[in-house]
Amino acid sequence: MADSSGPRFPLPDGFLMGASTSAHQVEGNNVSSDLWALENQPGTFIAERSGDAADSFHRWPQDMDLLRDLGFNAYRFGIEWARIEPEQGHVSRAAVAHYRAMVRGAVERGLTPVVTLHHFTSPNWFSARGGWLTEDAAELFASYTRTAVEVLGEDVRYVATINEPNMLALVHAMRRAAEQGRPSPTEGGDTGGVAFDPSTVEPSPNMTAALIRAHRAAYRVLKEADPGYQVGWTVANQVYQAEPGAEEIAAAYARPREDVFLEAAREDDWIGVQAYTRHRIGPHGPLPVPEGAETTLTRWEFYPEALGEAVRHTRQVVGAGVPVIVTENGIATSDDERRVAHTERALASLVAQMRAGADVRGYLHWSALDNYEWGSYRPTFGLIAVDPVTFARTPKPSARWLGALARDRHLPCGADRPQHVAASAR
Ligand code: FCB
Repeated sequence: MADSSGPRFPLPDGFLMGASTSAHQVEGNNVSSDLWALENQPGTFIAERSGDAADSFHRWPQDMDLLRDLGFNAYRFGIEWARIEPEQGHVSRAAVAHYRAMVRGAVERGLTPVVTLHHFTSPNWFSARGGWLTEDAAELFASYTRTAVEVLGEDVRYVATINEPNMLALVHAMRRAAEQGRPSPTEGGDTGGVAFDPSTVEPSPNMTAALIRAHRAAYRVLKEADPGYQVGWTVANQVYQAEPGAEEIAAAYARPREDVFLEAAREDDWIGVQAYTRHRIGPHGPLPVPEGAETTLTRWEFYPEALGEAVRHTRQVVGAGVPVIVTENGIATSDDERRVAHTERALASLVAQMRAGADVRGYLHWSALDNYEWGSYRPTFGLIAVDPVTFARTPKPSARWLGALARDRHLPCGADRPQHVAASAR
């Protein structure tokens, strides 16, 4: 590897630099999905409907043109089970052709596609018959994966089976608790209708086991179809930090919420790290954001070093032999300068881990576009702004800044700048 001691860290060959989206959050009109049904139910607790989202279902060529022109070499996007199999057993050939065209479109533009098979939303028929907890859920997911192989072809190498299974399991537990009349999820909130206090419940072992079974089933299908597919899943890394004396409590708290999902990746080809902020754990459980700390539009603490810490923890649990791809990292803010500041420090913390030997294969920023943040359009995570009426795309300065790093093939490593001083909340 080239000299990496200065303030610029040369990217290893083949390192992916790009951005991420998910199908439901950008496509629009995902009408056969369970979330669309929930969003449009009379009296729903979800604050805002996804509606047309960013209309990327039609505008994906423009999105990919922009990412290429900005200097990126990778794009993570999702394909939607609810479009590919809108009714159980009925495959939409048009949807398969649509996603196949996207894969080809990415490759033709020099963007390495990283394709997610499941990102929070399921077909409405699947959830209506019991979702992941039904006996044949893994087989149904495997059958969808078999169809997905037609989309991936020989062009896709990196496949993520399920996005953030730990969040899926946690949200499931929240909804079960609400149905049973236990303290309900906080409604509305800045992240939209699905905001909740995750400290009051934990994922059920049944749900966790079901998701792991589905992941393994999809893994097998993919490897049988083409052993060259690099298969993994992506975990929401919460960066649980123990206060002095609370180490055991923090470890017990983290286990069902994160670590079991990381352990399940020990035999995988790679692991997706997704980090946004930290969570401090005291002797009595989770602690609030520290007094006076800067917070983002999702009310998360501005704490960019979460990325490096997430990579370190992931390596510890999964093992150093499984390569890491940062499949999400970013910030919800209307102040694009804070996006650059956040990302610069996050990347420096990532470089520190790479220098310490972490095998990191890529950095995919969340998100390429401002999009539907699960109940609200208010938290803007995008490198590229999207007009909600005309759908016009406008790259923000952060997009040009990150794209230039991708083009120049280096990352900032923080050696030339003083440590950040927490700014006031904005
Ligand atoms: C992650 C999700 C992604 C987006 C970001 C902010 O948990 O995978 O869809 O909502 O958070």
